[in-house]
Amino acid sequence: MKKNAIILGIETSCDETAAAILEENNKGKPNLLSNIVSSQEEVHKKFGGVVPELAARSHINKIDIIVNKAIKESGKKLEDIDAIAVTAGPGLIVCLSVGLNFAKALAMSLKKPFIAVNHLEGHALSPKIITDLKYPYLLLLISGGHTQYLLVKNLGKYIRLGTTIDDALGEAFDKTAKLLGIKFPGGPFIEKYAIKGNPNRFILPKPIINRGGCNLSFAGLKTAVLKISKTLRNKKDKYDLAASFQKTIDEILYNKTKIAFNEFKKISSKKNSPFVIAGGVAANKNIRDLLERLSLKENFKPIFPPQNLCGDNAAMIAMVGLERFKLKKFSKLHHPAKPRWPLDEKAVFLKGAGVKL
Ligand code: KG4
Ligand code: ZN
Repeated sequence: MKKNAIILGIETSCDETAAAILEENNKGKPNLLSNIVSSQEEVHKKFGGVVPELAARSHINKIDIIVNKAIKESGKKLEDIDAIAVTAGPGLIVCLSVGLNFAKALAMSLKKPFIAVNHLEGHALSPKIITDLKYPYLLLLISGGHTQYLLVKNLGKYIRLGTTIDDALGEAFDKTAKLLGIKFPGGPFIEKYAIKGNPNRFILPKPIINRGGCNLSFAGLKTAVLKISKTLRNKKDKYDLAASFQKTIDEILYNKTKIAFNEFKKISSKKNSPFVIAGGVAANKNIRDLLERLSLKENFKPIFPPQNLCGDNAAMIAMVGLERFKLKKFSKLHHPAKPRWPLDEKAVFLKGAGVKL
């Protein structure tokens, strides 16, 4: 009898040390057996952002414990694992190197295939862990480091439709939170503050809202929030600014997603296509509700990973690993850590001063 594939996933690209075991069931569907995520929030909180050296040290201290825990919780043994999938980029090179080297050593000693995974592809495929999702589909990736609309043609095949030309959406949330006095990473708290505030109190800019296709920009918004934050006097003012910020983001995403829908339709004839919204910011309930409504109106099928798979995790890395394993798409052991690794390698780099849209 053919043995079902069992994949160990490892993730250390930024400030989460994570490991997961995913097994293919008899119907060829993924079955998540364990998913361990150890966050470094406490380590970086007082610095207002991730400190690479401290993050790498923490990964080194924890990696074997987390991997062992994932294996133990899965009920499997180390020898049962068929392949080791690990994030090789994009991310902080000192952090990526920890997971990557650990995975290479393990693969070598177990004599099992090694699969170097693009972290962004992990987010892109994350809903597949719990739901049936067929290529092609439209993806909105909203995380702490990336904000992009992509056409996911197939495993490893992406066409970028739009991208942020400056800050990532998660970054905009975190910076706004910081200006409201919330400790890093404050993104999730904006949502909580926003519920208590008046979304119409402050008028904030929506950069490039009427140009640049479905490319996005958040830098001007951040500057406006900075100016207003200096005038705030009490908690109510903070709630109002959070609510106004959330409303502005909602409006930007609403407009840009409509454009992305049209761009997608120009290159794909798929009717009622899935629209995957993934990455840390996809945990935001406002954004989820808004994009769900818009998708249904525009004949797209909205798909969100469950809340616990929106942020960084190794289950999504194992998911990519499983798809690659089935196609025997393994990596060489000298595969490098890639701090920059776009999903669409052909897309023009659109960041920094002087970008023309
Ligand atoms: O995907 P992720 O865990 O890490 C990266 O790959 O970047 O995303 C983290 C980002 C952070 O900026 C965090 O503040 C943001 O996702 N985030 C949220 C929410 N939950 C996490 N932003 C807004 N609302 C949330 N509920
Ligand atoms: Zn991520």
